Amino acid sequence: MKVLVIGSGGRCHAIVDALAKSPEVEKIYCAPGNAGIAAEAQCVAIADTDAEALADFAERNEIGLTVVGPEAALDRGVADCFKRKNLRIFGPTKAAARIESSKDFAKRLMTEHGVPTAAYRTFTDYAAAVEYVRSHSLPTVLKYDGLAAGKGVVIAQTFDEAEQALRDMLVDDRFGHGRVVVEEFLQGEEFSLMCFVSGRNLCPMPVAQDHKRAYDNDEGPNTGGMGAYSPVPFVTEEIRETALRTILQPVADAMADEGVPFTGVLYGGLILHKGTPKVIEFNARFGDPETEVVLPRLKSDFYALLDAAVDGRDFETEWSSDTTLGIVMAAKGYPGSYEKGYVVRGLENAGKVYHMGTVDREGKILTSGGRVLMPVATAPTLAEARSEAMKAVKAIDCGALFFRSDIGAREAR
Ligand code: AMP
Ligand code: GLY
Repeated sequence: MKVLVIGSGGRCHAIVDALAKSPEVEKIYCAPGNAGIAAEAQCVAIADTDAEALADFAERNEIGLTVVGPEAALDRGVADCFKRKNLRIFGPTKAAARIESSKDFAKRLMTEHGVPTAAYRTFTDYAAAVEYVRSHSLPTVLKYDGLAAGKGVVIAQTFDEAEQALRDMLVDDRFGHGRVVVEEFLQGEEFSLMCFVSGRNLCPMPVAQDHKRAYDNDEGPNTGGMGAYSPVPFVTEEIRETALRTILQPVADAMADEGVPFTGVLYGGLILHKGTPKVIEFNARFGDPETEVVLPRLKSDFYALLDAAVDGRDFETEWSSDTTLGIVMAAKGYPGSYEKGYVVRGLENAGKVYHMGTVDREGKILTSGGRVLMPVATAPTLAEARSEAMKAVKAIDCGALFFRSDIGAREAR
């Protein structure tokens, strides 16, 4: 079987890596891919948002299954385009992907179906939003209602800060013209629970924890994610079961009931608020960097699993009890502006390293993105995985990168 993976980050590298282990997979293409992915797949120079070109490629090359990585591709209707041409694809339609691309859609669906999440209201008018915020307590959470690469969320500690953020989003249209969801602030530990979903059929993955802030001790700006590990000790089996029963299953059912059945990975960004899991956000795809620490633990055949999900057949999975931990190495300046084109050395001494943003220039690996590399280590305990991953980070030689040294540290103690 020939497969196509759409995307270029560390998540896609992990997907390619997992597919490469399947005996049924004879060739993997990745569009557009990166320097690390090129070692396991044939990279194809097509943008991950160019739905028509991707579908043409899949048709011409007799691709049996396509897997979508990034949300931007889903939002451009890549899955719809493939389905129109009777091409098999693992990923939701544009309408179903609104569970991620529209905060308002997600909040309405959750509220109507009794799924636990923060109380909210949606605004298009700046003055009305300011008045609402001023009549509620701080901190307050402001979310731009659309895709903003993890940068559309502001947790305002003061009313001035809230007004500035609302002005950015509703008056100056910083992310485009749109709406803002104002949400109650929830306190607690966050975790990510991803499920393979085919309509009402759910197959959960193990829980992972991301680290969203740029610097140690959860300081600095929000990023796409600076490191992750799986499993997560504080998320007991009971908490996971509760999350599946009260959150993931009802949402999959509600989407099927509303005529937008979901096929793909449903990602619950959850928070343990006073002992109960509640939803912070949904994503319509594999998490990044969670995928890089979850898929290495998969013992069953990844291709067979995706194949069954696309056909709506039942599927089961088996996972290793080991812990996988990965540390993101990002360009200095990220998530703000940063430079590209620095040489990376020492990769051969770092074990398993997922590439997030790299290019190959005449045999040299150069940085080409905000998040650049993610060394991952797997070991019987979290403490061991953490120490192995730290060694890997130190083996990589590139002065233009920074990383967090506390990934998994709180739970490893
Ligand atoms: P999101 O893009 O929705 O995942 O939000 C980014 C981050 O903001 C989350 O990972 C949380 O740390 C934080 N956050 C979002 N919504 C809330 C909320 N209602 N209460 C507390 N923190 C939140
Ligand atoms: N790790 C957060 C995300 O994938 O959106």
